[in-house]
Amino acid sequence: MLNKVKSEFTSIFNEAPLITRFAPGRVNIIGDHTDYNGGYVFPTTLNIGTYIAGSSRKDKLVNVLALNFNQQIRFELNDIQHDTLHPWSNYIRGVYKVLLNKGYQLSGANLVIGGNLPQGAGLSSSASLELALLKLLDDLHHLLLDGTEAAKIGQATENEFVGCQCGIMDQMISAKGRANSGMLLHCDTLQYEYIAIPKNAQLLVINSNIQRGLVDSEYNLRREQCEQAAQICKVGHLSELNIDTLEEFESALGALLFKRAKHVVSENLRVLELAEAIPELDWTKISNVMRHSHASLRDDFAVSTRNMDILVDIIDTALAGQGGVRMTGGGFGGCAVVLCEPNRKNAVINAVLTEYLKLTGLQAEVYECKSVDGAFYTNDSSSANIANVVASKVVSN
Ligand code: GLA
Repeated sequence: MLNKVKSEFTSIFNEAPLITRFAPGRVNIIGDHTDYNGGYVFPTTLNIGTYIAGSSRKDKLVNVLALNFNQQIRFELNDIQHDTLHPWSNYIRGVYKVLLNKGYQLSGANLVIGGNLPQGAGLSSSASLELALLKLLDDLHHLLLDGTEAAKIGQATENEFVGCQCGIMDQMISAKGRANSGMLLHCDTLQYEYIAIPKNAQLLVINSNIQRGLVDSEYNLRREQCEQAAQICKVGHLSELNIDTLEEFESALGALLFKRAKHVVSENLRVLELAEAIPELDWTKISNVMRHSHASLRDDFAVSTRNMDILVDIIDTALAGQGGVRMTGGGFGGCAVVLCEPNRKNAVINAVLTEYLKLTGLQAEVYECKSVDGAFYTNDSSSANIANVVASKVVSN
């Protein structure tokens, strides 16, 4: 893909690109719908993502070719409008708009973009596009962005320009993820700690190929419900509660809001438990924690689907306690994530390829993943040691 992006650039702009950059997609190992509630997440990067080639221009024109859509668009920096005909271009337009609003100095650019993440699978193709562009603009225009600032700009692009009220997990991991590690991120303070994924653990991403619908509207609705619940409980965000303090508000919240809040509070604990179980490869614990996470997303947060539940059940049976599986990401289709003993890999793949097709009529795809450094990762990326926080939280809850 990198070579394709470079050669297309050279052929349409008649010169080689000045620089090329890459930002990875992500899979979330655990901690879903906790990021916008000030809670914990534990994602890792993927070695697939978005490539971008670019050179700066002297004028204010941004000229972009998207290889995946075979579409080219142009806009002027002093007139950045939303584009309904080319929805992918709003991520580019939005990044420029947010940077300019923050006072960064930019000129125009020629850009070619290509990606190898499956579209609509929930592996953060949009965050990887934002971060690849931000890294390229950082180097092209000497913006001196650090990864956290870049992640915030990516999130603001989605919240303020594209219209998705997402949290910051996807942008943080695409920016600052580290190879062969998960990132235990506290989304309220943005403190994080890298936790190495041992070599003898196998990470698999299974694309359910479920047609996704209502993703944005249901996502935004969940976020509103969480904000409403936090207001009723008189906290800034739901992650300030633990199970006991939440229960005091059970009747004030009503059944639906209580379930939403219960998912968030219990999922935070599961993130911390899994982060502890991974270095020791405690498969029984990994298996239980991931199973409870899936059940909570299905029953309390209501973001799974029937076919996703079938997929997760099939895999859980094939794992036989030697690993865990759960739906991952925003929900309503997308992918399941598996962390298992390497010798369970073939059993999982066989079960998925036969049983899932038989029961749902859908063909799932299995990706064997390797995680790579994020677009803004540097060796000195400050990783706070939040292990103590982890221990005390588990005890106090
Ligand atoms: C999407 C959003 C993230 C996060 C997840 C759910 O991927 O972009 O911010 O909320 O859903 O965990």
